[in-house]
Amino acid sequence: MLSIIIPFVMKTDVIFYTILVIFNIIFLIKKDYFLGPKSQKDPNIPVEKMNILEHIGNIYDITQKHGIEESLSKGENHIEYVTSKLGISPAQAVIFSHFVEKSYDDNIYLSDIAGFIQCKNTKMIKYMHDVEELEKKKLIYCNRDSWSITYRMPSEVSVSLLKNDNFIPEKNIIVYDEIKPKKMYYNQRETGEVQKLISMLSEENYEKIMDRLSGKSMRKGFACLFSGTPGTGKTETAYQVARETKRDIMIVDISETKSKWYGESEKKIKEVFDTYRIAVKNSKIAPILLLNEADAVIGSRKDIGNTNPSLDETENRIQNIILQEMENLSGILIATTNLVQNMDKAFDRRFLYKIVFEKPTVQSRIGIWNSLLPGIAEEVAAELSNRFELSGGQIENIARKTEIDFIINGEGLCMDTLVEYCKAETANEPGGGKRIGFGSAD
Ligand SMILES: Nc1ncnc2c1ncn2[C@@H]1O[C@H](COP(=O)(O)OP(=O)(O)OP(=O)(O)O)[C@@H](O)[C@H]1O
Ligand SMILES: [Mg+2]
Repeated sequence: MLSIIIPFVMKTDVIFYTILVIFNIIFLIKKDYFLGPKSQKDPNIPVEKMNILEHIGNIYDITQKHGIEESLSKGENHIEYVTSKLGISPAQAVIFSHFVEKSYDDNIYLSDIAGFIQCKNTKMIKYMHDVEELEKKKLIYCNRDSWSITYRMPSEVSVSLLKNDNFIPEKNIIVYDEIKPKKMYYNQRETGEVQKLISMLSEENYEKIMDRLSGKSMRKGFACLFSGTPGTGKTETAYQVARETKRDIMIVDISETKSKWYGESEKKIKEVFDTYRIAVKNSKIAPILLLNEADAVIGSRKDIGNTNPSLDETENRIQNIILQEMENLSGILIATTNLVQNMDKAFDRRFLYKIVFEKPTVQSRIGIWNSLLPGIAEEVAAELSNRFELSGGQIENIARKTEIDFIINGEGLCMDTLVEYCKAETANEPGGGKRIGFGSAD
């Protein structure tokens, strides 16, 4: 009997769940210890000595008495602490206090929140976005059934509140040792430049650089630009640099931060930098902020009055915010772009270090073929590399297709199929990706 029960109990997800439940129980007990029943709360603790739970407790009390609109000004001191600690807006801090207070409740309805912040259900629409933002930041969890929507606060948030941590949502943060090592093939110049960057960002050298810059009252932000045509390894290089320098990486997809709502895009982009600032403050080794596919923001700023002036205005405002943030940056930013020309001069100047990624040489292509398709014969890798000027990204696509072929049909590598795939990859390129003056793709 025991031999049946023990393996089941030892399942890691069961253990994980049990730990979370225990943490939740500790949180419930300790929360009361920290906050205490209202009558026991020590009114003499100075605001600057309060921990996050005490601040949240005060926000809760003020909101319960006065509703959200007034609490935003009456609870300003407490709200300021919570917003900077968690990287959320004032309204989100007020709403979040409800979730903390009701952390024992697994089914918090929107109507409960509306009642707490004292606004009519119709007005709740105004705050719906804030609830969604709390969810996106993983500070609350939403359960959407076909018949109801309820919320709860996840246990890991309780844990970090108890420790008075700044809760950094896991979303978009990749821990360096989870990044799989990948052998990259560069030309000689790129090899030198990537190695130099890795060396500059090693913990020891980076500290020295920072000390020296601040000693000379120079800006400390370390912004790098990776530019080049698609599939040349820009994003992968950013990951590998993070892995080698033991820095976590926070990835931001700029297109995700664009919103159709007036003013929202700017708010979101500011939030990105606020979250990154918190991450830097919280980490022993500064993480990397990766602005992936940043073409739209680093391209030339638009003359307003073109086809879509409001869109141009929004893009220009986002660009100005990023320029400002780069000016005050404390940490490491890597932006990737396909744009090599037409870059805004103001951005160009702010990148301390730039690497242009070129399409791989024949020799690099041979290496990439071998590394992505380990079973490939040497002469096949050499022939394909000579016949087709593919990028690493295109070779990776072909490797994926052959992997699928193997799973579905049990087919191994075959020259004809590989040539067919190479042609398909280059079908839309001028010249069909054939090397000029050497061999033929037919
Ligand atoms: N120089 C390279 N060496 C080895 N592999 C490479 C190289 N370049 C690209 N690859 C392969 O192609 C994949 C895709 O590359 P990656 O996404 O980094 O390209 P990118 O330059 O960021 O493209 P895009 O501009 O389209 O975003 C990588 O994960 C890697 O497997
Ligand atoms: Mg990329």
